[in-house]
Amino acid sequence: MKNFTFYSPTEIIFGKDSELQVADEIIKHGGTRVMVLYGGGSAVRSGLIAKVEQTLKKAGLPFLTVGGVQPNPRVSFARDAVAKAIAFGADFFLGVGGGSVIDTAKAVAHGVANPDTDLWLFWTREKELTKSMPVGAVLTISAAGSETSDSAVLTNMELGVKRGLNTPFNRPRFAIMNPELTYSLPPFQVSCGIVDIMMHTLDRYFTPTEGNEITDEIAESLLRVVIKNGRIAHENPHDYDAMSELMWCGSLSHNGLTGLGAVTDFAPHQLGHELSARFDVAHGASLSTVWGSWAAYCWRDKPERFVRFADKVWGIRKSGTEETVKAAIAQMVSYFASLQMPTCFTQLGIGAQSDDVLRQLADSCVFHGKRTIGGFKKLDGKDVYEIYKKAN
Ligand code: NZQ
Ligand code: ZN
Repeated sequence: MKNFTFYSPTEIIFGKDSELQVADEIIKHGGTRVMVLYGGGSAVRSGLIAKVEQTLKKAGLPFLTVGGVQPNPRVSFARDAVAKAIAFGADFFLGVGGGSVIDTAKAVAHGVANPDTDLWLFWTREKELTKSMPVGAVLTISAAGSETSDSAVLTNMELGVKRGLNTPFNRPRFAIMNPELTYSLPPFQVSCGIVDIMMHTLDRYFTPTEGNEITDEIAESLLRVVIKNGRIAHENPHDYDAMSELMWCGSLSHNGLTGLGAVTDFAPHQLGHELSARFDVAHGASLSTVWGSWAAYCWRDKPERFVRFADKVWGIRKSGTEETVKAAIAQMVSYFASLQMPTCFTQLGIGAQSDDVLRQLADSCVFHGKRTIGGFKKLDGKDVYEIYKKAN
């Protein structure tokens, strides 16, 4: 087990009607003027925004509500929201929605705390983030895990680049998690969420680090629980127990727990971000598209890891290593397919891409040769190109 620091300070308020506690939570965490952020309108249509506003009014908390965050949230939107927040005097940022909204709330909090810095510079690492403002979340989709994660992902449309920023300042003060708030999700988004939850653990589980028993066991049980409840949720997205398991797994999968003491991988996430940056595809769908190709390309670097995955997660035990690994990869890919998730470029809806485009994607993914991706197997531009080619 490698040395680690585990810091997951987000207070979780879980269960039916938990959104009614939002004002008390904000006050408890020092908020006096609140910017409420939401997305394209689902939270308005479900009545959630009205409910949140009513709760804030009742508690005497002044607020400014700003909607319109898009999936794969834009840095330009966050910049505009920073100006509005400063004019309003907001000192607390509440994201009501999914990863896109919560990440935007985080970005706006960073921007308001650092008004003299263009916030994109924190994402490019040109500036170091040393202070921010408090953020809270009312979660409406089990997926990205932003409600407890130290990450926020923004897209810069002008540059065609999608980047994550990891910092303790990204940890929300609280997360309100009522599984019933996910009942209005379209089936596609439920499936995207299931994939993303699994991938946050898989991208940690596939590691070169040996002998990390408790972390491995936590990861494997999380994967089994998501597989089982993902099937139930896919059939019936109003199954409270299944949606509860998924929601809690979504947070545990990305708060750091399932990768403690180990080198993490996250290559599939980087491969997926490149597809979202270029084609604006949903995050979960980008991940199911690349995972099988990534696994087929990388497993030989540490076959025993995939054999363990086969056994502990899928109950697959065959006589030969290659046979076992291939069966496990096929099983994972067919699980994604059973959720109607894409497993290649054509199914993703972007069509088969030309060799030129594949090379551009690969080059951009490795920052034009300035980085490699992946902790399980280090991948350079040529490797990334081969994986995209397999997924094409
Ligand atoms: O915008 P609205 O109208 O709300 O609709 C959203 C959006 O179209 C809809 N939706 C959400 N809750 C709903 C609902 N529709 C009906 N009923 C509800 N209850 O779902 C769509 C997707 O929303 P989004 O917030 O984009 O989903 P998700 O939570 O999957 O977030 C994806 C974003 O998070 C980033 C991704 O890259 C992507 O930009 N990630 C953030 C991470 C983090 N901060 O830790 C880690 C992840 O790996 C990921 O990269
Ligand atoms: Zn993700």
